[in-house]
Amino acid sequence: MNMRRGTVIGSAFIALMGLMSSFGVSASDQSRAKEVLQQTCVQCHRLEGKPDSRFNLKAPDLIWAGSKYRRPWLIGWLTGKEAPLYAKGYRWDLTEVSSKHPVVTDSDANAIADYFAEHNKDPRVTVGAFDVSKVTKYEADFGAMAFKAHACLGCHTINEDGKIIGGPQSTALQASGQRYDKDWLYRFGLNPQDFVPHSGEFLADATDPQLRAVIGYLMSQGVNDFKYYEPWTSAEFDKASVSRGKALYKNIARNATGRQAKEMDQQHLA
Ligand code: HEC
Ligand code: HEC
Repeated sequence: MNMRRGTVIGSAFIALMGLMSSFGVSASDQSRAKEVLQQTCVQCHRLEGKPDSRFNLKAPDLIWAGSKYRRPWLIGWLTGKEAPLYAKGYRWDLTEVSSKHPVVTDSDANAIADYFAEHNKDPRVTVGAFDVSKVTKYEADFGAMAFKAHACLGCHTINEDGKIIGGPQSTALQASGQRYDKDWLYRFGLNPQDFVPHSGEFLADATDPQLRAVIGYLMSQGVNDFKYYEPWTSAEFDKASVSRGKALYKNIARNATGRQAKEMDQQHLA
């Protein structure tokens, strides 16, 4: 009896280990990550709790860290290879110096990234909600225009023709395409207050196409070889001639620009 139970538990254990190693996450990496997080990172960051104003925090929340970042950026950040995000320091209201972020080894960074993916996924984020491969150049340009029209530039920096422009009060967005998970960024945009309440962050009242244009624009920031979607190369345009398709599409784009620009003017007058 006992022996049989032992065998059952034993094989369950072996199966579990197999499962974990098939994901490339070992139990010892996970406990190592937990140790680093609890000894170091939680001195400044929160890993759980409810969203709160940045003026009550010491550092950005990592509650949803498993959904927010692209992994290469996260590893780069933790190993000290990424540019600071807050030029004036996160709490510029307390001190104007940006302090150096603690650095961990490559293997600890990977263990932490695995830990986040396992324990800090944000259930509010719908995987696949935003399709980066469908962002057109026109849409991204419209997003860039909206970014300025909605005063985002007052608090966030971006890269325009190789120059960093904008205000440094909040997160630098010039590398956002390398940094953010697209689906997290889209969910953030749906209602920023779900992440950073009472922080002065712009309360979005954009329509979905407007929001998608801004997110598409941000996902192209910092990505030199960003591949824009060209509807005239897609299956729907297969039968039409390429030049006719291009002319047609540009025409639609031009009309839409006029209409949307008018809508935005009305918003500003209202
Ligand atoms: C002394 C306080 C402090 C400690 C300790 C600390 N951080 Fe940070 N962290 C910050 C600050 C401040 C920022 C904002 C970045 C900036 O100022 O440019 C930040 C930014 C980050 C970011 C990017 C956040 C975002 O989305 O804007 C991540 C990820 C991060 N830290 C992870 C960690 C991890 C993991 C550890 C533990 C190994 C850690 N931090 C330890 C203060 C700290
Ligand atoms: C009044 C200043 C202000 C304006 C204007 C503003 N933001 Fe923000 N933004 C913030 C603050 C504050 C946060 C919270 C992060 C932080 O603590 O700095 C934030 C956060 C963000 C983040 C997430 C940053 C991160 O990594 O956690 C994105 C993306 C963003 N804003 C985009 C926008 C867009 C797009 C607009 C225009 C529609 C905009 N912001 C307008 C202040 C501003």
